[in-house]
Amino acid sequence: MRATDIMLEVRNLQKIYPNTGAGLPGGVQQADFALEKGAFFTLLGPSGCGKTTTLRCIAGLERPDRGTIRVGNDVMFDGDSRTEVQVNLRLFGMVFQSYAIWPHMTVFENVAFPLRVAKDRKFASADITSMVDRALDTVSLAGFGKRSATRLSGGQQQRVALARAIVRQPRLLLLDEPLSNLDAKLREEMRNELRRLQQQIGVTTIYVTHDQTEALELSDRIAVMQDGRIVQIGAPRDIYFNPCNAFVAQFVGSTNWLYGSLEEAMPGGLAKVRLRNGGEIVCVMPQAMAVSQDLRVSVRPEAISLAAPQCHPARETNRLRGKVVLAGFMGNITRFQIDVGGVPVQVYGGPTAAYAVGDEVAVDFPFRSARAFD
Ligand SMILES: Nc1ncnc2c1ncn2[C@@H]1O[C@H](COP(=O)(O)OP(=O)(O)O)[C@@H](O)[C@H]1O
Ligand SMILES: [Mg+2]
Repeated sequence: MRATDIMLEVRNLQKIYPNTGAGLPGGVQQADFALEKGAFFTLLGPSGCGKTTTLRCIAGLERPDRGTIRVGNDVMFDGDSRTEVQVNLRLFGMVFQSYAIWPHMTVFENVAFPLRVAKDRKFASADITSMVDRALDTVSLAGFGKRSATRLSGGQQQRVALARAIVRQPRLLLLDEPLSNLDAKLREEMRNELRRLQQQIGVTTIYVTHDQTEALELSDRIAVMQDGRIVQIGAPRDIYFNPCNAFVAQFVGSTNWLYGSLEEAMPGGLAKVRLRNGGEIVCVMPQAMAVSQDLRVSVRPEAISLAAPQCHPARETNRLRGKVVLAGFMGNITRFQIDVGGVPVQVYGGPTAAYAVGDEVAVDFPFRSARAFD
């Protein structure tokens, strides 16, 4: 990333809440990242890992303990020089989980609100009208301006919240689990809508979610957070196919775990692993490990293919033997559970996959689809 393309830079950010009981102190321990202009960047992680705290620090709703936050050439916060730009002068657009639409106002007035209360300048009435109309048009609510905000569906309220967030053409759009109050179908619809909107107006966006499919589908880049720290940043494919540790492998997508110990390190970043339940496999080893050290191997269900035991495996492919325990037809896929030497292994087959409960099968997966972690 060239320095001139950076829209947001967060360095050495920390905001720790006093420990209120058992467990780790809350907040964010350490966050570092930079976003390119126009990027869709997602903070992904389980509840309580520090996503909202990070976003609130960027928004100016929380004062960090330390670190710097820069937008373009402007310093928003710098713990060393005690620089801090007020939240309402940062001019970011924000949408939170509870989208806080004002029920006593019309749709138009809800969207116009940030313009009417702006502290840094006064907007002429004609400008307000055209800016609000454009924002409503962007979220596909043209013509809804006069409607009372209470007479809207959940999805429409969500759009109003979005329109209000983008009406001033913010440099940064901050979205904290904005879809989590919607039902599943609507959530998927709004997901597409969000991406379209973000690309259309080209606004640099930080999106917070605990939903890995949402993150994978929407983002240019994802930062996975665990216990107040960013543990991996990468493109969705990167995160999914090259998780840096067991936590990421487990949290993003689904995975099977095979337990064993390291037999030997091989050339090309590969490792030979002896499985606890018998057999040997070859897999990728992202971290250095010691011979005979205990480890676990992540294999995605869709990386595995089932075959007749008598046919030959493909090159550079592991083969284990198992027995079909469950074969669940799910429409687009068939989900199998295979007993592999006492270990249940999930496998996704096509809708017409031809194995039945009780069948003896070969369980094949490429060397490079499996990853060993300590
Ligand atoms: N105002 C606060 N006071 C004390 N602890 C807080 C406060 N806000 C958040 N926390 C704690 O900080 C941790 C991270 O919270 P949060 O950033 O909201 O996580 P996430 O958004 O990833 O679910 C949690 O353990 C939470 O309980
Ligand atoms: Mg949160």
